[in-house]
Amino acid sequence: MSSRPVILVVDDEKNTREGLVRALRGEYAVAEAENGQRALEWLETHAADVVLTDLRMPGLDGMALLSRLLGRDAKPIVILLTAYGSVETAVEAMKRGAYDFLAKPVNLDRLDLLLRRALAERRLGDENERLKAQLDSKYGFENIIGTSPAMQEVFATIRQAAPTRATVLIQGASGTGKELVARALHQCSPRRDGPFIPVHCAALAPTLLESELFGHEKGAFTGAVERRRGRFELADGGTLFLDEIGEIDPALQVKILRVLEERKFERVGGTETIHVDVRLVAATNRDLRARVAEGAFREDLFYRLHVVNLTLPPLRERTGDVVLLAQHYLKTLAAENGKKPPAISPEAMDVLQAYAWPGNVRELRNVIERLVVLGTGDRLTVADLPAAVRDGAAGGLAIPSRAGRVLRDAERQLIADALRRHRDNRTKAAQDLGISRRTLHRKINEFGLRAPGDA
Ligand SMILES: Nc1ncnc2c1ncn2[C@@H]1O[C@H](COP(=O)(O)OP(=O)(O)OP(=O)(O)O)[C@@H](O)[C@H]1O
Ligand SMILES: [Mg+2]
Repeated sequence: MSSRPVILVVDDEKNTREGLVRALRGEYAVAEAENGQRALEWLETHAADVVLTDLRMPGLDGMALLSRLLGRDAKPIVILLTAYGSVETAVEAMKRGAYDFLAKPVNLDRLDLLLRRALAERRLGDENERLKAQLDSKYGFENIIGTSPAMQEVFATIRQAAPTRATVLIQGASGTGKELVARALHQCSPRRDGPFIPVHCAALAPTLLESELFGHEKGAFTGAVERRRGRFELADGGTLFLDEIGEIDPALQVKILRVLEERKFERVGGTETIHVDVRLVAATNRDLRARVAEGAFREDLFYRLHVVNLTLPPLRERTGDVVLLAQHYLKTLAAENGKKPPAISPEAMDVLQAYAWPGNVRELRNVIERLVVLGTGDRLTVADLPAAVRDGAAGGLAIPSRAGRVLRDAERQLIADALRRHRDNRTKAAQDLGISRRTLHRKINEFGLRAPGDA
């Protein structure tokens, strides 16, 4: 950058404001405003790269200022300053698009780091955005296949969340693609040249997991013959993927919470404080909110992880994607096995679509792999499919009775009407119909109703 980045400091407390201006001046061009309203006035005639704003201010507060700023074309990076006890509001602000927040009194070293990173990410992000727009394929995104509305929503969230350092919680049943999504988040982020470090939290006993995550010093416990760096250290500058986070022991939950809040920790048996810059992505196939209700998972950690939430729908709720995935795997797995991809009969494809896929995409992939490896002909029919899939699908394929058809037609009509009435706003349409948004999604898929305005 040829000229210095511009920072606008917004705070009603004169001392805080002046302290920040003094600290930042020199490296940055700094302006100040004593409340949200003044900040907006200043921004009418000036541009800022970063707006550093207090949350609680008389008149237009930090949250309201954020909303107004994000509606603009040239969005500044917004960093919030929060007093003790307003972390939840700050988390809410991050969901709405704030870059990050800092607790007051502001630690200037941390502020300095945060600003450098935010500005660097923005420069990379702009470039990334352009590249991505060109590369997105017709059938999905970053190796994730799917054109169903539910998956389109997932892609949109990935695009939005990837450039930020917000923690992402991925929920979904086994085999729905959680790890794939975690990798996509890393790949689309400014950290993509940094490490992507996965940890399967359920695979290790709590004490082992602790030293796996945080490392240990020589002699920390029997068998610790050497100092070892943990995954948090290894992921510095990149993304740490905590898989099966719902299984983590309460004592470790506390430690993870601390790293998220303070970005520092000590190795097991060590005293040296280690600072890391890690973006955390977590996944679970459990209902984490229910675990919180049971007292098995800390609520504060849940909120920290849940800044961005991605829920992957089961495969049976996106039958259109079954076709795409089946074709994709027929092609790629045949190629891997040095075979010509077989054609598949329409009846066999119907069976694949009618089956419930309890193991989701992983199960579909395995079924196709078996067909490709064991198959001899160049055309797959229903008879080639595994018995479990054929039998499981039989219920779903039964020819609907006349009464059933009439009911289905009526249902389809009701849903189409509600969508039209609410101009494809699914939340409102679902409310109107008295069903959940999720159910509405499924029905839209099932009936092949498209809602272009709701992508
Ligand atoms: N939408 C998709 N497009 C292409 N491949 C997919 C998709 N979803 C999942 N897969 C594939 O299915 C398999 C399982 O995916 P993944 O490991 O990401 O699931 P998971 O949700 O992490 O499962 P688990 O909870 O069992 O760990 C992988 O081989 C992955 O590549
Ligand atoms: Mg997984």
